[in-house]
Amino acid sequence: MLLCKHRGRGMFELTGKTAIITGASRGIGKGIALKFASLGANVAFMHFNDGEKAEETVKELEALGVRAKAYDCNVADFEASKKVIDEVIEEFGEVHILVNNAGIVRDGLILSMKESDFDAVISVNLKGAFNMTKNIYPHFMKKRRGRIINISSIVGINGNAGQANYASAKAGMIGLTKSVAKELGSRNVTANAIAPGFIKTDMTDGMPEKAREAALAAIPMKRAGQVDDIANLAAFLASDEASYITGEVIRVDGGMAI
Ligand code: NAI
Repeated sequence: MLLCKHRGRGMFELTGKTAIITGASRGIGKGIALKFASLGANVAFMHFNDGEKAEETVKELEALGVRAKAYDCNVADFEASKKVIDEVIEEFGEVHILVNNAGIVRDGLILSMKESDFDAVISVNLKGAFNMTKNIYPHFMKKRRGRIINISSIVGINGNAGQANYASAKAGMIGLTKSVAKELGSRNVTANAIAPGFIKTDMTDGMPEKAREAALAAIPMKRAGQVDDIANLAAFLASDEASYITGEVIRVDGGMAI
């Protein structure tokens, strides 16, 4: 495996590449954006109504010497996501990497889960990933290269009581990933899913104390993951070194789903 020579940070090289990342104003998406930028990639990212944090992220990315731009855009809106992708291609030139990371939770047992809670989570987490994939698809086909990295979850593999909407969306993302891998493999486009376990972010900080304790107790490594644990794998999957890996679902969970 080649180590990064240009930046000398001992990892993979993404210099000259441009990535679109959804949901990178904070959390895992931001961690991926910073990792990509530290490896030389320009980053365009989307967030939803999180302008202040998005601006901070843009500044942190630019401080790493790359181009960065934030777009306030609901990924569940097909036309709006198309508009952003078209703008990014226009402004940045070729896009090489798409990371579908934006996600929300509306937890509850099915008995009490509102239909609107099911629909909202499917719309953002699954339909959002479809919207982005569909809208970047012609560009990747034309360029005959591209990387799609979908941030799924171990609950998309195992299911989870209280998360029927979220687990369905995350399982759907795995089906989407494998279908895209089959459709676009001949065009030199790879699609892979990362299935994080319990990662410390605003999303998990918002969980009830008891649920957080139970999640931590279920992790063989006895600690929550950090955003960098996910970002390191995303950087590898985006790099030239991962060019023959497609249709994979890789858990990053400290053993939680074993
Ligand atoms: P977070 O809540 O800290 O950040 C979510 C990001 O998505 C924010 O930038 C937000 O603006 C953006 N976003 C939300 N709705 C959006 C929409 N409709 N359109 C565009 N952007 C939108 O979440 P976190 O923890 O960083 O999670 C990121 C991804 O990782 C999510 O897909 C989540 O399901 C997944 N994940 C997280 C785990 C964890 O333990 N934190 C575990 C497994 C998966």
